[in-house]
Amino acid sequence: MSGEKKQQGSDKVGWVLFVVGLVGGLVVGWVLFPQVLYSTQQQPLNFNHVVHVEGGGMNCEDCHQFRPDGTYAGFPGVDNCAGCHQAPMVSGDTKTEEKLIAEYIEPGKDIPWVSYSWQPDNVFFSHAAHVKGAQMKCTECHRDVLKEAKTPLVKVNRLTGYRADTMKMFVCEDCHAAKNVPNGCDVCHK
Ligand code: HEC
Ligand code: HEC
Ligand code: HEC
Ligand code: HEC
Ligand code: HEC
Repeated sequence: MSGEKKQQGSDKVGWVLFVVGLVGGLVVGWVLFPQVLYSTQQQPLNFNHVVHVEGGGMNCEDCHQFRPDGTYAGFPGVDNCAGCHQAPMVSGDTKTEEKLIAEYIEPGKDIPWVSYSWQPDNVFFSHAAHVKGAQMKCTECHRDVLKEAKTPLVKVNRLTGYRADTMKMFVCEDCHAAKNVPNGCDVCHK
């Protein structure tokens, strides 16, 4: 009788330990490990796409251009900002504009934007093939920048340098397979 009770008691302790272990494991796996694995980087300045494209009537190509040789310039240089922000013009967030002028436009220094989509050097990716060739929209591969007033933090994997948004190989390959684009290793790895 009392032996049975003891047995039940230790079963309960076993369950409690199991649940504590399980919850602990989940916390480490889902909450702590990603926090340890990823460091977060803030962009040097907050950049608001909405005020420029919807408010200022600018086009994506005003800042994201192809060079004459077909390679993609990626981020805009500080010259792209100086045309309008040489002298203060902003009525709302004047702090960020002050920093833009004092730290970048006046000394003529490019702003060190961090890429959300960084790929390792051994991957060959061409914007021209996709944007000009296949007429793809930016949002097929990137987040929709017209839905945000604040630039999000960039999550950088400490081990690999990959960003949380770095496109994985299988994603590239799945689309190529669906659109009959060659998938030989040498297409993407040079
Ligand atoms: C006035 C200049 C300007 C215009 C116009 C502009 N952008 Fe940008 N864009 C930037 C700057 C600066 C950054 C870097 C900061 C950031 O990521 O928000 C950027 C970053 C981006 C990124 C993030 C790329 C990555 O993965 O790191 C995408 C995607 C993008 N722009 C798409 C667009 C699209 C689509 C349009 C048109 C609807 C557009 N941009 C218009 C200046 C501009
Ligand atoms: C064609 C003109 C034009 C160009 C070029 C331009 N901007 Fe702007 N910018 C604007 C306008 C218009 C506003 C909104 C003004 C207001 O809110 O009163 C603005 C606002 C801003 C603000 C403050 C508003 C906010 O919400 O953060 C910052 C910071 C800024 N721009 C940075 C940049 C940077 C960085 C570049 C270059 C990559 C750039 N701008 C290029 C016209 C321009
Ligand atoms: C087929 C997918 C795809 C499409 C479509 C695409 N991008 Fe990208 N983008 C990428 C990849 C992948 C990278 C990372 C390249 C690297 O790090 O070598 C990138 C990087 C960028 C960067 C960061 C700067 C750089 O050169 O690394 C900007 C800015 C950018 N893209 C803007 C755009 C804009 C604007 C459009 C639409 C006109 C667009 N992209 C369309 C996949 C795409
Ligand atoms: C959503 C669809 C899609 C995604 C995602 C995509 N691609 Fe492509 N890719 C295409 C299409 C379509 C073409 C053919 C473009 C053309 O030449 O008309 C292409 C062409 C290419 C080419 C040129 C091939 C050649 O022989 O000319 C390279 C290189 C390439 N892609 C690399 C990549 C890499 C690397 C990634 C992932 C980071 C990627 N692509 C993601 C659709 C995609
Ligand atoms: C359509 C483009 C594409 C093709 C085709 C492709 N890769 Fe990749 N590969 C990538 C991209 C993008 C990455 C970086 C992102 C990642 O690791 O998923 C990558 C990463 C890798 C890595 C590093 C993986 C890691 O986890 O560090 C290896 C190894 C690799 N590829 C081998 C191959 C081999 C072998 C082939 C041919 C059988 C091939 N790839 C074909 C796009 C491609």
